[in-house]
Amino acid sequence: MCNKLLLPYTTNGSILLKPLLVLIFIGFTISCKVNSSRIYDYKKSFIAEKGMVVSAHPLASKIGNEILQQGGNAIDAAIAVQFALAVVYPVAGNIGGGGFMIVHTSGGKIDALDYREKAPQKAHKDMYLDKDGNVIPRLSLDGHLAAGVPGAVDGMFKAHERYGRMSMRNLIQPAIELAENGFAVTKQQAKNLNEKRADFVRLNTTQPVFVKETTWKAGDLLQQKDLAISLELIRDLGRTGFYEGSTAKKIVAEMKAGNGIISLEDLKNYKSVWREPISGNYKDYSIISMPPPSSGGIALMQMLKMVEPFDLKGLGFHSKEAIHVMAEAERRVYADRATHLGDSDFVEVPIDKLLNKDYLKKRMKSFNAFSATSSETIKSGIFNGNESEETTHFSIVDAEGNAVSVTTTLNTGYGSKTVVSDAGFLLNNEMDDFSSKPGVPNFYGLVGAEANAIAPGKRMLSSMTPTIVLKDGKLFMVLGTPGGSTIITSVFQTFINVAEYEMTMTEAVNAPRFHHQWLPDQISIEREGFSDELIKQLQNKGHVIKKRGGIGRVDAILVLPNGKLEGAGDVRGDDAAEGY
Ligand code: GLY
Repeated sequence: MCNKLLLPYTTNGSILLKPLLVLIFIGFTISCKVNSSRIYDYKKSFIAEKGMVVSAHPLASKIGNEILQQGGNAIDAAIAVQFALAVVYPVAGNIGGGGFMIVHTSGGKIDALDYREKAPQKAHKDMYLDKDGNVIPRLSLDGHLAAGVPGAVDGMFKAHERYGRMSMRNLIQPAIELAENGFAVTKQQAKNLNEKRADFVRLNTTQPVFVKETTWKAGDLLQQKDLAISLELIRDLGRTGFYEGSTAKKIVAEMKAGNGIISLEDLKNYKSVWREPISGNYKDYSIISMPPPSSGGIALMQMLKMVEPFDLKGLGFHSKEAIHVMAEAERRVYADRATHLGDSDFVEVPIDKLLNKDYLKKRMKSFNAFSATSSETIKSGIFNGNESEETTHFSIVDAEGNAVSVTTTLNTGYGSKTVVSDAGFLLNNEMDDFSSKPGVPNFYGLVGAEANAIAPGKRMLSSMTPTIVLKDGKLFMVLGTPGGSTIITSVFQTFINVAEYEMTMTEAVNAPRFHHQWLPDQISIEREGFSDELIKQLQNKGHVIKKRGGIGRVDAILVLPNGKLEGAGDVRGDDAAEGY
């Protein structure tokens, strides 16, 4: 039963036999764990003829797939999935947060939608510092003051206005029904809710539905009546049903009760923005990803261009040499991120310079094949002139070949953990993605500088990397993941697994991952999946190795040579593929 998941996976080549056996072993182990706790019968890996939805929750994937079958396009399905995740995946799905969407239409048009949260007008640079100028621990993470102005609802209306085919009413309705009638929580969800119980009690002015007298168990029903009403207002009144009127008043009343600063004006004035995607080439592939205020697209392209001259395939999957090259590229890219990246509506982000071929070549000049470069010597480039990393990603392709890649978040698990009283939705804690003080790491250990300093109306820098890949001009892959600072490296490695190591989408998604982010100067590796011998070899090169739990949960779709779609939901979570 457990290894049933692995049966459809075949390798395209034999060169990877040994690493793939390791992978299969890991896949087998993780799959068994996941299977034994399942309360939904869902697919981790699935081949579909026409349309595919892969998301973090089986019910959300099912809703997206139903929209596709009712004649909705990929954007319609994405809107329905965003609202559904706000109900069935409250740890990261949201209407009180924000996100990014990449679109590639069957006609070849590409687009990037930024519905990232914004700092409220009353926000200021030093708002999380004490009188001595030190960062006050957790002030940007817990409760009302941690919340940015939510962007998700405006984003969905913006996406619909440009690309939607079905009525918004029909796209929101499935989420309303799930909130009204309730759904059975999974084992992982029950565990998360129990772990956060004390935080929910501490950080709320009225007790939210997430707090129960007894502990949560898999299969328990989670009903969210207040959330259903908030969703009905959006269904009936459009974006004003959230940003004005009773919901907006409830948000502001909540702010007043808990020392938050979001105002009615902040809400009314929030606007999501269409932006030009970051696009570039890696060998025969065209990569389309998110521009600032996410660092994702720029960082991903930098990594790919830095490793392109190396024969990763010849070096072998997870050979010490391949990991070394990739980790050294990652190190250099995160150093650039720390200094140069921020909201391009507020600061000049030198995108062209950061992606310049000669610049990237120069950045890798200090690469030494035999030893790790110390992060201390890697300052950002100069130009001539336990809490969980929760976010969620979903990938969608429709029967016409339109593709959507969305990453959306409240930031850390359940965001600020503050639920708007009587409105039933969680507020984000996205303000922590700003740099509260230059050089002081945020929750993800990321440091920042002036480019990502707090300012009223500014968007905080993100790592979210919703990505679409074309091959020979045709749709090839749709992918993305949660994971905070590890998002970019997970997307990077998953793509490389297919492009260089000829893995199936499922193998690529479930392969063990590693991560380097410049500071701290270490390679984080997943606890399972890296042999002691390999760890020793990397240590001999001078790398500090730190074992940790799962890195990211990639949800991806690959267009197969016969035109069918391979959907892969990461075995690390409840992620599920649904298609037809
Ligand atoms: N909140 C995580 C990110 O946007 O990168």
